[in-house]
Amino acid sequence: MNLDKALHTSKQLDSEDELSEYCKSFLFPKINDKKAIYLCGNSLGLQPVRTKESVLQELEDWSNLGVEGHVHARSPWLTYHEQFSETLAHITGAKTSEVVAMNALTVNLHILMATFYKPTLTRHRIICEAKAFPSDIYALQSQTVFHNSTPEKSLRIIAPREGSEIIDEEDVLKAISEEGEALALVMIGGVNYYSGQVFDMEKITKAAHAVGAIAGFDLAHAIGNIELKLNEWKVDFAAWCSYKYLNSGPGGVAGIFIHEKHSSNPDTFKLAGWWGHQLNTRFKMGDTFLPTPTAESWQMSNAPVLSMAAHRASLEIFASATMPAIVSKSKKLTGFLFSLLEELQQEQYFKDLFTVITPEQRGCQLSLLFHKNGKEVFEHLSLNGVIADWREPNVIRIAPVPLYNSFNDVYTFVSIIHSFKK
Ligand SMILES: Cc1ncc(COP(=O)(O)O)c(C=O)c1O
Repeated sequence: MNLDKALHTSKQLDSEDELSEYCKSFLFPKINDKKAIYLCGNSLGLQPVRTKESVLQELEDWSNLGVEGHVHARSPWLTYHEQFSETLAHITGAKTSEVVAMNALTVNLHILMATFYKPTLTRHRIICEAKAFPSDIYALQSQTVFHNSTPEKSLRIIAPREGSEIIDEEDVLKAISEEGEALALVMIGGVNYYSGQVFDMEKITKAAHAVGAIAGFDLAHAIGNIELKLNEWKVDFAAWCSYKYLNSGPGGVAGIFIHEKHSSNPDTFKLAGWWGHQLNTRFKMGDTFLPTPTAESWQMSNAPVLSMAAHRASLEIFASATMPAIVSKSKKLTGFLFSLLEELQQEQYFKDLFTVITPEQRGCQLSLLFHKNGKEVFEHLSLNGVIADWREPNVIRIAPVPLYNSFNDVYTFVSIIHSFKK
């Protein structure tokens, strides 16, 4: 492999990168006193520089105002979530009335299934993907039991074909049409956490609707990573976490999308709590639940402002950088990584060492399946200042994140893998 040429190209691409300044908006961990090459944003995104100030603002307002902060804080806590609607709508391709930041991801999946999974004796089947994140599988399994069925009876898991690591989308579509009137729900990760495969959410939604089923997506690995057009694709619901590409901190506040055809319908069932009640009468403390006619009515509890303050600092960066620019850089950055790995694999040693299992339908993550020495390569990366992500049994996930990774980071990563050769 011609490392000099790769280095030269990386410098050229960095000089043309319109988002290059954004890396200054983030704090980088150090390894041996040197700024780490952080390629792990698919697991936990980096802390924005502004986060501390944003959280401190709420701590200060709390100490200065006490309960009055609900109304008189610089960002009043009563309506704190409202400041995210526009940016979340931009990131997800939604209307502002269709999104809200609340709770945590798995909790939200259950809350959404309370609305959207209404099995009957004849229509109770759920389709999901094999190697979905375990929490999603557990959630779906428990939903079947909650509705007096079993995972064996109600859950259909679409696996990759023999010898493949990724799911053939045709198999998902075929399963949907085979299930037909028995199908209640399709619930799939928009981007699979393990392989990095992106699913065609529009096609899957259309197929689900054609048989009268609901289509929902877990966007943990999609939000802030790929272009989303949830409203236009007519997705029924989606949920995400904010600690990966949204950089809002460990366990940060999650979010949901509910298509306006459901969110504006007062007859759509939801588990209710006071924060979903219309604001103008919420504090009359009446016994009758009057829902806000938007996704906000799925909120049950008052907002976790300290965690939302971190969310605010991060979403400001997205509002400024914008998704089209992020996605455009992402394609170049991950394309560069892919091409360097391809070049590396022209050497038989590396061809035998690993395979990139992520298909062309991808976001920024590439998953490298190791045929041998995977753990040693991972340790070699760590020793050389790279923070990556190991997934059992033998996958290293690499996510060059457009907001804070450079083409030089990608070059350095590949040169370190190159230096592993025994
Ligand atoms: C795809 C996916 N679903 C669900 C979860 C679980 O998220 P939480 O612990 O926030 O509920 C994760 C966590 O990484 C995930 O990646």
